[in-house]
Amino acid sequence: MMDGSDTPRNAANLVLLGPPGAGKGTQARMLEEQFGLVQLSTGDLLRAAVAAGTEAGRAAKAVMEAGDLVSDEIVIAILRDRLAEPDCAKGVILDGFPRTTVQAEALDGLLAEIGQGIRAAISLEVDDAAMVTRISGRYTCGGCGEGYHDTFKVPSKPGACDKCGGTEMKRRADDNAETVEQRLRAYHAQTAPLISYYESRGVLARVDAMAEIEAVARELNAIVAKAVA
Ligand code: AP5
Repeated sequence: MMDGSDTPRNAANLVLLGPPGAGKGTQARMLEEQFGLVQLSTGDLLRAAVAAGTEAGRAAKAVMEAGDLVSDEIVIAILRDRLAEPDCAKGVILDGFPRTTVQAEALDGLLAEIGQGIRAAISLEVDDAAMVTRISGRYTCGGCGEGYHDTFKVPSKPGACDKCGGTEMKRRADDNAETVEQRLRAYHAQTAPLISYYESRGVLARVDAMAEIEAVARELNAIVAKAVA
């Protein structure tokens, strides 16, 4: 169904919730390929703003390095601009947004303006204690952004990306034990309440994200297939 502006009113928008290291980015990239949706990571958008030296990026840099949340105002503005791009019309997988109740309400408002909503909010449930290991072993391909792990997801040819063949691998500035602890505290204080927010709206699903990557992907695929049908 389309509205007068040719925006698909039935676009399948999904939210992935979970603490740092839960696997939001890993799974969002897989879902993007599987279902033709667009992964929208506010962490990636903010890192791009920091790298580009924009006003928002300059304001966000120190906050991100400390493991705290960037202001709602900055993140909502970045998200609003990205959501307005044409590729998002088919539906998005939100990875790392919303992270506060203010952001969740703003998202509801932005989607309502175009006659859309959230089809499913999926909580990736993990043990905090394992997240430091996951995050400290993480690296990504500098060419295409594919994510890897020193132990849990190694490229089939050492040092070369399975997706694009690139050999420049990067580690994030905030992926150190001290910052991860603060990111976990921020998650529990400000983001975990969103699990109830989406539960009360009848769109919440929970997934055991301590399982292996492929097993988590299978569970998510089943949930998303139903949500987008
Ligand atoms: P962001 O970039 O969103 O980081 P995060 O939420 O801390 O999440 P991560 O990217 O660390 O983890 P992930 O769940 O994606 O895990 P991944 O798949 O990589 O945010 C960074 C910062 O930006 C924030 O701290 C904040 O300052 C700011 N920010 C961003 N959004 C904001 C917002 N909305 N509001 C305010 N501030 C915001 O997996 C981790 C590793 O584990 C990988 O190596 C992977 O290979 C491996 N792995 C994944 N799944 C498994 C598995 N099942 N078993 C074993 N290993 C696994």
